Amino acid sequence: MSAEQVNELIAVAAQKAAQETDAEPEPGLTKKIEWPVQATLGRGLEGAISNTTRIGYVNGAKGWLIYRGYNCFDLAKHSTFEETCYLLLYGKLPNSSELAGFNDKLLAYRTVPKATLDVLNSIPTAKSHPMSVLATAVSVLGNLDSEAQDTSVEGETEIAIKLIAQMATVAGAIARIRQGLEPVNPNPQLSHAGNFLYMMTGETPTATAERIMDVALILHADHGMNASTFTTMVVNSSLSDMYSSVIAGIGSLKGALHGGANEAVLYDLEEIGGPDNVESWFARARESKRKVMGFGHRVYKAYDPRARILGPVAELLAMENEASGKLYHTAVALEKTVTKVLGVEKKIFPNVDFYSGIIYKTMGIETAMFTPIFAVSRISGWTARALEYLEDNRLFRPRAVYVGPTKEDYVSIDQR
Ligand code: ACO
Repeated sequence: MSAEQVNELIAVAAQKAAQETDAEPEPGLTKKIEWPVQATLGRGLEGAISNTTRIGYVNGAKGWLIYRGYNCFDLAKHSTFEETCYLLLYGKLPNSSELAGFNDKLLAYRTVPKATLDVLNSIPTAKSHPMSVLATAVSVLGNLDSEAQDTSVEGETEIAIKLIAQMATVAGAIARIRQGLEPVNPNPQLSHAGNFLYMMTGETPTATAERIMDVALILHADHGMNASTFTTMVVNSSLSDMYSSVIAGIGSLKGALHGGANEAVLYDLEEIGGPDNVESWFARARESKRKVMGFGHRVYKAYDPRARILGPVAELLAMENEASGKLYHTAVALEKTVTKVLGVEKKIFPNVDFYSGIIYKTMGIETAMFTPIFAVSRISGWTARALEYLEDNRLFRPRAVYVGPTKEDYVSIDQR
């Protein structure tokens, strides 16, 4: 498999996505809210509008994912993760000198203070969940940064760039420590994606592996008001600090209903054991109301455009690797079986997490590290959106409808 083949796959995926024709009406902004409001309760904030944004757009019916006006297929095909980060943060594609300046900053920030690695070596990094360790690492980075409490837009932008650079380094170190190996320093000759693979595996990646990781990082960079982005923004809106906001985002992404699904999918595929077992496994899952990981989405009621790219990439990789081939064929059988039922009943299709794990696994990455890979990318969307909101900040503060009693008589403890 070559980097050119990856580009051909992206072009085919874009053509398929263009065939989605359903239109989803956009919500219209009317007027300022006046209390009390008449509201319909959307569980899990379904339907709630939190802010306006110019950063990114997901149209769930059309299967669109757009960053700053550019569709994800064009970015996956032509851009790099570094350029995509610049686009998200600054609102435009960089020219050569702007990109060179941005890359210089990433290079300068990529090496983390030794004290960070000392902390990772002094906690049970090999046994804890890597997302919990990642949160600890970001906390240490914040404690070591004398500018951490600067909550100006300029100050937080600089911290965002530091964290984009350093998240890959600490995730790489976590992967190494989990294998009982020494962390490796970043290689100044490599791209962000290349470095990330290098720091996880200790080996210089092939051009194809670097390209595939770059595409994965581009595709995971931003995705509307997802749970971890919203979490990051809520914390940042209190003028806490960017490190604290990102730590909260990591905690949110970790969950199996969100970024943690990429890890859970792999465990499900291994549990299923092969394509022949899919039908009976799914029947049991339906019976016990068990969710199928890597399927469904609050926003997409069409095929997730990211899965349109990652599925065929997983297929090409799996053709070259027997173990991944089995996982891939199990995944294809599961997709067919699940969409035949849930696609029709509930418009449930594979999401970004369904095929990404097979790709990472084929690259030799441990399953528990899949969600940190997501975080290494999503740090860009988290920080870009938190910064955009900070420019016209107002504390996030929704209300709940109280449905409990109001006139209880206090009973002393010996009377209860
Ligand atoms: N498998 C089986 N049934 C599902 C699935 C699924 N993966 N997803 C939704 N459903 C069903 C629910 O059981 C529910 O059925 P009901 O109405 O009969 O009770 C209905 O569809 C609505 O489900 P909710 O969970 O309320 O839908 P929501 O919009 O909250 O779900 C979510 C979005 C959390 C992603 C859900 O689809 C899910 O749990 N998927 C599995 C986990 C996963 O893949 N998460 C990653 C999402 S992408 C990301 O965050 C990066």
